[in-house]
Amino acid sequence: MNVPFVDLQAQHRAIWDELNQSIQRVMERADFALGEDVARFEEEFAAFCGTRYAAGVDSGLSALELSLRAFGIGPGDEVIVPAHTFIATAAAVTFAGARLILVDVDPTTYNMDIAQIEAAITPRTRAIIPVHLYGLPAEMETILHLADQHGLLVIEDACQAHGAHYKGRRVGSLGHASAFSFYPTKNLGGCGDAGILMTNDAQVAERVRAMRNCGQKVKYRHELPPFNHRLDTIQAAILRVKLRYLESWTKARRRNAALYSKLLAGSGVATPIEIPDSVHVYHLYVVRTPQRDALQAHLREQGIGTAIHYPIPIHLQPFYAQNGFRRGQFPVTEQLCDEILSLPMFPEMTAEQVQYVTAQVIQFLMGVSVTEGVDQAVW
Ligand SMILES: Cc1ncc(COP(=O)(O)O)c(C=O)c1O
Repeated sequence: MNVPFVDLQAQHRAIWDELNQSIQRVMERADFALGEDVARFEEEFAAFCGTRYAAGVDSGLSALELSLRAFGIGPGDEVIVPAHTFIATAAAVTFAGARLILVDVDPTTYNMDIAQIEAAITPRTRAIIPVHLYGLPAEMETILHLADQHGLLVIEDACQAHGAHYKGRRVGSLGHASAFSFYPTKNLGGCGDAGILMTNDAQVAERVRAMRNCGQKVKYRHELPPFNHRLDTIQAAILRVKLRYLESWTKARRRNAALYSKLLAGSGVATPIEIPDSVHVYHLYVVRTPQRDALQAHLREQGIGTAIHYPIPIHLQPFYAQNGFRRGQFPVTEQLCDEILSLPMFPEMTAEQVQYVTAQVIQFLMGVSVTEGVDQAVW
């Protein structure tokens, strides 16, 4: 059996006609730049998340950078970011001109360690960017409380957590602003790059809308930094179609995750945890074992696609070599980077595929094949 890491073709086959029709409508209208579907998608995604405003942009990275700029964060300011995240969370801070302050993550949730955030706050701190990593909401209540006490902004990096819930609300609606990515493999993904900024702050939304479109509020009057970070109308049209399926895809991801966790219990790998009053949307299903590299090689030989999110921590990235970070500074993150492995995860995955993957993990780690009695030992 072959199990790919993700299978976008399967997703597209299921909604082929709707996707084609939505693209055709844009071609007919030819409103490619900030067309009708962009405005409709912004309204629909804002309603989905429970925020007042949304500004569609060309990537999650742009959404993060423009939100920082819209709040006036830049040179002389410090922004706190987890050390264990995708490079874009950190890069947005750097590109906005602010100082990147990293903190380590919790060894069980892999999200920001609250005690370390508190220790990192200085008089120059302006914002915290919690990441809902892999689809698991960060501890927002505590983070918002801490931010409130210190007069800080909270910008959620919700790029991996479309539709996740935290204490009855959707992530992306909890902070002062939030960023989503619609990179093709995300839980809600375009057919190309796309992103969005969400906020309840009318001024921030207006400033991001201006900055994404050459800094203009009025045509050819360039008041704000004149970036071009517009969301393509064709991507918005595709995302409107896919948004209608997001809830059912999330259910399928959660069903697959539950099966994975049940079958892998006792196998020796650490499986993802969930936190009370929140809904994990399993953008990624990440296990952990000191034998990660050998396990990955074994799974590859068995036709199973896996990935590592991420193999090199932010503070050890060559791009940040001049920032004065050092090895050993964020030990939890460093250990995670050596031990984590993302198993195949996509809504169309079948129970047989999950069973095949888990059987191969168990065979490798426990030296038993499924037919040789894993039934009694693990199932
Ligand atoms: C946690 C996180 N932040 C930011 C981004 C940036 O999004 P994009 O690739 O759309 O720029 C991504 C996704 O790639 C991500 O996973």
